[in-house]
Amino acid sequence: METQIKKLNYETINMNIIEEAGKILKEGGLVAFPTETVYGLGGDALNPVSSEKIYAAKGRPSDNPLIVHIADKSHVYQIAKKISKEAEKLMEAFWPGPLTLIFPKTDLVPPKTTGGLDTVAVRMPRDPIAAAFIRAAGGFVSAPSANASGRPSTTTAEHVAEDLDGRIEMILDGGQAVIGLESTIVDVSQEKPVILRPGVITKAMMEAVIGPLETDQAVIAPDSGIKPKAPGMKYRHYAPKAELTIVEGETEAVIAAVNRLTEEAETKGKKVGIIATDETVNRYEKGLVQSLGARSHEDEISMHLFEALRSFDETDVDCIYSESFENAAIGQAIMNRLLKAAGYRVIEV
Ligand code: TXA
Ligand code: MG
Repeated sequence: METQIKKLNYETINMNIIEEAGKILKEGGLVAFPTETVYGLGGDALNPVSSEKIYAAKGRPSDNPLIVHIADKSHVYQIAKKISKEAEKLMEAFWPGPLTLIFPKTDLVPPKTTGGLDTVAVRMPRDPIAAAFIRAAGGFVSAPSANASGRPSTTTAEHVAEDLDGRIEMILDGGQAVIGLESTIVDVSQEKPVILRPGVITKAMMEAVIGPLETDQAVIAPDSGIKPKAPGMKYRHYAPKAELTIVEGETEAVIAAVNRLTEEAETKGKKVGIIATDETVNRYEKGLVQSLGARSHEDEISMHLFEALRSFDETDVDCIYSESFENAAIGQAIMNRLLKAAGYRVIEV
């Protein structure tokens, strides 16, 4: 299959292209599209055959449920039931935006879309191209991140093409995703809401709206062997080809340690990548150094993280050393991805 790539701009969204993309979904095909978090691989959420195609295109295990994307708040009541007061408040405060909520599902949603679960994950993106596309496709678009299973999520149309070219009908190119990390996921299907995946909508932001909130133990203590409640969180996601190690500690100690580790590895004939920040990028003497942006602008760090991991795959480095971001306000979201990519390899200095 030939994958068409269609460039769109946000000032005047070309509705002919949007309609064409919507038609592909209505006919059971797949279209990757931009959202403010990462690119999504979209199919008709109400068509079980489309969900099967999504799993096949990604090479994703089919027990891993998909998020259903909507463009109109009222549509949530068609696919979800028993919507709690807390959930209503979260939707009011953060939709449209990077927050996914998990509800008991209605019969409209086929089990294939939810990996056989009786709950459904729902998200209403704020990206206007995503919203227009969802409406054109009939209102309910299931979409995992548009990457091959096991690779970092995609934040540009080029990255989507790297992973999915020839496997899907179309890619809508809206440029670089502005957030760069997947949505926060909160399970509101039980009595107490629980955060299953941290994102840029932080615990503190949500607690300001609904009061105390729990986080899934598997997110807080990933080594504990506790089974995560979001099935997808158990897989080793976001894995770069090179062995990634996070170096944590005071800035000066981290710089010294990374320089020493790089030198040691290069002596052994290894090619080294370094994930740095604008504040430190000039302090590394050897290796291939990539800055994610300024620590003082956390949104730059999140925006460039997956891009950096992918770019190191192309440069064929053998190992990567990364600075740590545990002190950022969105540090839990960034570190959750970085730690997974590192297989939880951390050196404290
Ligand atoms: O920002 C995002 O959320 C992006 C964009 C495209 O919207 N999507 C995304 O989808 O990250 P995906 O499939 O890569 O991650 C969805 C996560 C998986 O870990 C999955 O297991 C979990 O959500 N999930 C989906 N439905 C669920 C459910 N009913 N119960 C528990 N976890 C669920
Ligand atoms: Mg994903």
